Amino acid sequence: MFSSSSIEVFDKNQLSGTTTWLSPSNIALIKYWGKKNLQVPINPSLSFTLKECLTETTVSYKPSLEGFKYEFYFENKLKPSFNNKLDVFFKRIIQYLPFLNQVSLKISSNNTFPHSSGIASSASAFSALSLCLVDIEKSLVENTDFYKKSSFIARLGSGSACRSIYGSASFWGKSTLVDNSKDDYAIAFDLPKFFNDYNDTILIIDEKSKSISSSVGHNLVKDHHFKSSRINQANKNLENLLHAIQNQNSNEFISVVENEALTLHAMMLSSNPSFILLKPNTINIINKIWTFRKENNTSLCFTLDAGANIHLLYHQNDFVSVQKFVKSELVDYCSNGKYINDKVGPGPIKK
Ligand code: DP6
Repeated sequence: MFSSSSIEVFDKNQLSGTTTWLSPSNIALIKYWGKKNLQVPINPSLSFTLKECLTETTVSYKPSLEGFKYEFYFENKLKPSFNNKLDVFFKRIIQYLPFLNQVSLKISSNNTFPHSSGIASSASAFSALSLCLVDIEKSLVENTDFYKKSSFIARLGSGSACRSIYGSASFWGKSTLVDNSKDDYAIAFDLPKFFNDYNDTILIIDEKSKSISSSVGHNLVKDHHFKSSRINQANKNLENLLHAIQNQNSNEFISVVENEALTLHAMMLSSNPSFILLKPNTINIINKIWTFRKENNTSLCFTLDAGANIHLLYHQNDFVSVQKFVKSELVDYCSNGKYINDKVGPGPIKK
């Protein structure tokens, strides 16, 4: 889709400026787990875009006579520890953004959520950075597919980041079930009004960063015994989820979303070598949610990302009852009683 471009030489006066984007995290309902080639998912994924968990990134650029250079600052401090990941990213994308060969960048990033919350920030971080870079390109050359290209570039930083480019919900990966879907970038997914009113309360179970990175986990899917079954299951779950969303079928929605969360961790448990990211309190909370659901007519369900934290998904109509449940029964299982109330949001914003 986005072929690498030959190097255009820009006038030095054009090559300075600054741009800032705020981009959210997202939570997958159908999980991306396992990839082929360069950042191509083995199955399609669908996510809610969040509203409050954001990364704000500012990129300042100026002409460079020595070719591409960058410095990365996190919370106003120079952070060379991020350079390995960023070097890989820039190596992958420079062919698609050739103006980079002529500039030096200062990248400054901050998160609205606490650094030690165990919330994966690669989706918000790479989407915010990609939006800044494609925005700079847009000021230099004509670019008609701004969001598609931003999603394409973000994918090359972190797969799930390509879904953070659009508000409400996002779909990534080629599927006959969703028109115009592609492996190269995510597309906006049209969410019926009912699901736009969904909350995501993130229960912080473990504040430490993950013991095993997602990249290592994805890699273990390559030779996984259940790989082909997982691909079939993800596609079937997608079909059922699309049906549930279209028909506002809460029970079907709950059943697919929880099955995807537990399968993600089942894939980790059955990898070779296997690993466990769930903590005892993750399981304690899941059991509490199941009991709560038996006793109450509620939209509440849970999902998990590649970590121990629990995402509580529920409709705004259930906000009061779920908040009461969290405070009375779940907060004691959270690390230092921490949780974050987030919700489905409108997507990235240029500042
Ligand atoms: C469990 O996007 O973090 O959150 O492409 O290697 O950066 P890389 O992986 P990443 O994987 C996310 C996995 C997940 C599920 C999901 O978000 O779909």
